[in-house]
Amino acid sequence: MEKKLRINLHKVPRHVAVIMDGNGRWAKGKGMNRIFGHRNAMTAIRDTVDAAKEIGVEAVTMYAFSTENWNRPKLEVDALMNLLVSTLKKELPEFHKKHIQVSTIGDIISLPKKAQTILRTVISETKDYNGIKLVFALSYGSREEIVNAIKNISKKVVNNEIHLEEINEKVINNHLYTFNLPDVDLMIRTSGEKRISNYLLWQMAYAELYFTDILWPDFRMEHFYDAIIEYQNRERRFGKTSEQITVPKK
Ligand code: FPP
Repeated sequence: MEKKLRINLHKVPRHVAVIMDGNGRWAKGKGMNRIFGHRNAMTAIRDTVDAAKEIGVEAVTMYAFSTENWNRPKLEVDALMNLLVSTLKKELPEFHKKHIQVSTIGDIISLPKKAQTILRTVISETKDYNGIKLVFALSYGSREEIVNAIKNISKKVVNNEIHLEEINEKVINNHLYTFNLPDVDLMIRTSGEKRISNYLLWQMAYAELYFTDILWPDFRMEHFYDAIIEYQNRERRFGKTSEQITVPKK
């Protein structure tokens, strides 16, 4: 049976976060340099978004560049930034055609000007679409995001805009980059690494984690659907007992 047909459309994760890992190893395996691997990552991104959209996922967040990635060799950082710019330019007509709403999370002002310019264009031209939300995490680090949120909330406390007793999970949520997104339901990481790597730590509190050995440039729709099927076979308990989840409340 086609994999997609095995998916229960009533139990689709609302928000899927992806760590696209293994570009370097994929390229090395082909005797090429790491940048070749990044260049071959685009089909996987497209397939993932298309697959997610087809089953009604609300948002997909892709870890495209972490705060730690700035420490890579300058040549690789420059290549990634150029790739970001050229990809966004090339994909913009597709975003329009498929009604994909693009946004970003992360310290966007630290990106090169040309990246910021194209991002502004893509974000503003797609902001009213409701096909699927495609979020790029760029210069993103979860701890940094949390530190920022704490600073901004503290400022409001000092200015009497909010009282200390009023600070709760919702307030913190509203001060994260992801304030307009649901919690992450499913996190997919490719390449066999089993880490979270400073990604959406707050938002993944109850996420199901899915790890696959596939290297990112080889990741296709069918692999995305494998992750969804596995997700649907897991029991999400949110701290409750198995019985509480399965027996309907009287
Ligand atoms: C991880 O592979 C991948 C990255 C650090 C960069 C991800 C970037 C892209 C997929 C392309 C640029 C993004 C956009 C939005 C156009 P790795 O280099 O760590 O691989 P390795 O672990 O095998 O070395």
